[in-house]
Parts: sequence; structure tokens; C-alpha cells
Amino acid sequence: MSLNLEIKTKLKLNYQDFEEKITEFHDRINNKNSPDINYLGWNQFPDIAINFSEIEKMKNIVENLHKNSINILVVIGIGGSYLGAKAAIDFILGLGPFKKRPEVIFLGNSLSSTDLHQKIDYLKTKNFAINVISKSGSTIEPALTFQILYQFLVNQIGEKQAKTRVFVTTSIKSGELLEIAKANSFEIFEVIESIGGRFSVLSSVSFFPLIFVNINVHEIIQGAKDAHTKYSTSSISENYAYKYALFRFLLYKKFNYKMEILIAYEPFMLYFNEWWKQLFGESEGKNLKGIFPTSAIFTTDLHSLGQFIQEGSKNFFQTVIYIEKPKFDLEIKKVVQFDSKINTLSGKTVSKINYQAFLATTLAHSKEGNNPNLLLQIKDSSAKSFGHLVMFFEKACAMSAYLLGVNPFDQPGVESYKKELKKNLGWNN
Ligand code: PA5
Repeated sequence: MSLNLEIKTKLKLNYQDFEEKITEFHDRINNKNSPDINYLGWNQFPDIAINFSEIEKMKNIVENLHKNSINILVVIGIGGSYLGAKAAIDFILGLGPFKKRPEVIFLGNSLSSTDLHQKIDYLKTKNFAINVISKSGSTIEPALTFQILYQFLVNQIGEKQAKTRVFVTTSIKSGELLEIAKANSFEIFEVIESIGGRFSVLSSVSFFPLIFVNINVHEIIQGAKDAHTKYSTSSISENYAYKYALFRFLLYKKFNYKMEILIAYEPFMLYFNEWWKQLFGESEGKNLKGIFPTSAIFTTDLHSLGQFIQEGSKNFFQTVIYIEKPKFDLEIKKVVQFDSKINTLSGKTVSKINYQAFLATTLAHSKEGNNPNLLLQIKDSSAKSFGHLVMFFEKACAMSAYLLGVNPFDQPGVESYKKELKKNLGWNN
């Protein structure tokens, strides 16, 4: 599995002076005695992060659900409790539409009554199960959605049956959801205490929905394991995760770039970008510091944001992920009835044209547009590559936040929104 990193900028990004700092933070991420060890479960991979027996249990449950024609899973969760699963499903399977495939519907990621109503309306005539995912077990969006959807399910099939269709992924230490699950004998999957929401995609948090759509999670785990080994050195020149972290830090600190645009050339990476935004945004954006993470899908957004990226104000750099081998390809054929330039492309594939667009855009944006470009090329969009990319970014993110001088693993800003909302609703604790 290969991931390549190339830096295209005229700026001098000297990283040699940072060897010592990187070694210090590398130890902090990897050392068993790290002061942050209680947040580093995702990096103790797979020993702490993966519960293999739970995966087997999930597989049996899914097999049974499918046998009983339950082919829709409603995943209720927000932030780190759903973005990873959504990113993985789209990345590995593509966007469809599919003729026949188990379906996952994501709910509880907003407070939109319209969205909830429309999805419940769709479920009226369907057989479905629920996977409610919340580490704390008290986040308002999923809690409210679960309450409404569970009542709906009980009305649809009766309480006894409904209980067998609910799967709760939560902390097994404490929380309202845990208590509800115990009191109602719902199946419980464990959210590991030392793994925060945005670092949880390579764990039970996303595995149940992935298994439900027949994704082989062992391949994801293998990809992540390979990356874990590959990025286990503190040497900046060998460890691309640290190199990426350091270059973005230097662009921010020395050259005042305050924004990063993550760009992909595949629409099925839209939610990968969303996942990445949460990972970096929540990990770095604190103490009035951090690079604002934003994203785009090319070539789609070249027809909307392209103008700004080429010629607008220069407060951002670009990180481009390019997937070398597409899942599917099509050859362009000559249409004799058309007197068109497209005919000159006959014999070429659509993916080759996408690649040309990537080369042309990178050149235009980096050379004429003067935007620093960090290029990440990955072999394909397989489950293994997904695991690799996630591990790459998680390690880079931890390093990047330490370089900035912020705690990568807390999110006091998110907590204060949650607190204020609860106050408005009249809940005092
Ligand atoms: O990264 C985080 O910790 C947050 O974004 C959470 O994932 C999000 O707020 C959902 O929290 P919970 O899983 O406790 O419902």
C-alpha cells in the first residue's frame, strides 16, 4: 500500500531545525507513559482500538438481520459518531445508486424536523434496525432522534420486536444512553474510553454500519496496521504523516497561511473531507490558534471556487488527495454523428482525463496561482487504502496539534455549545 507526498511551493520550508521537537512529540504520541495516554487508544492499534470478538458478534447479528430481510440500518449519531462511518461507506463503495444493497440512513446529525420527518416517512413501509451511537450518551441531537425513532419502531412492530432491532454503541462506563440500553436489554457495543469521537473511525464506533453494508472491516484494519507501522518512526524525511504535519505548521507559523483546503477529485470523497474537517478543526482550533480546515471536490468546484482559488486573496494552501486507480473506468468512443473536439479523445478513458485535470489544475494553482500545494497520491479507494489514509491523518493531526501547542484531544468549544443548549432547554445538569 503506497501513499506518496509531494510538496509544490516556492517557499523555503526548512524542517531540519524541528527534528528535536518532532522526536519529543513522537514520544508523547507513542510512549506508554505519555501524559495523554488516556486519549491515545486509537494509536494503540490494534491492541486497544480493536475488539475482534465484538466484530465477530456484529457479523453474526448482521447476518441474522439480513436473513430476516432487515436491509435498512438507521445510524443515529453526530460528529465523530457518524462522520467516519459515512466517509468509509462512500469511499469504499462509491455513491451509487445501487440496484440492490443494504442501505444505511444517517439521522440524528442535525435538529432538522423536515429531514427527520421525510426519513421517517420513507421508513413507514420498511423493515429497519437502529444503531444509535453516542460516546457520552447525552448529546441532544442523537438522543432526541433516538427517542422519536424508537417510539416509531415500537408502534410499527411492537415493543418486544423493537428491542431486538436496537443496537447501542456507547461508553460502558456511564451515561444516559447506557442506562436506557441496560433497562431495555438493547445490545451494547463498547466505545473505548481512550478513543475520542473524531479519532474513533477505526473502532467499533463505525464497524457495525460498515459490516451491515458488507464492507470487510479486516481489510480496513490491515490498511491501518500497515500505516501504523509505516509512520512509526520519528524521522521527518521517512514519516510522511509528520512531514505533512510539519509543512502545514510551517506554512501557518512562518508564512501566515490560516486556511487549508482539502481537495479530492472524486465526489465519493465529500464525506471523507467532512471527516477530515472535524478531525483537524476540533483538534487544532483552540486558544485562538489553528488552521481553518475547509474542502472542495474537483473538478466540480473548479466551476465555482476555482476562480477564487486561482486569483482570490491568498490566505490558504491546498492539500490534494489523488486516487491513482479508479474503481471503475470508461473508454471514450467516437460518435461519428458529432463534429466535436471530444471525438479527438476517443480511445482514452475518463479517468485519464480526470488525471490530466489534476495535473493541469495543480500546475495552474501552484505556479501561476502561487498557492502552496501538498500532494497526496494514494493507490486506490479500497478498504485497505481507507484504513491507511485515516491512520495517516490521525497521526498527522496529533503531531500537528502538538506543534501548535494545543491539546489535540479535547473540544471545550463543542462542550460549551452543548451546555448552553441544555441550559436553554431548562436542564440544569
Ligand atoms: O469529537 C468529538 O468528541 C465530538 O465531535 C463528538 O463526536 C460529538 O459531539 C458526538 O458526541 P457523542 O458521541 O458523545 O454523542
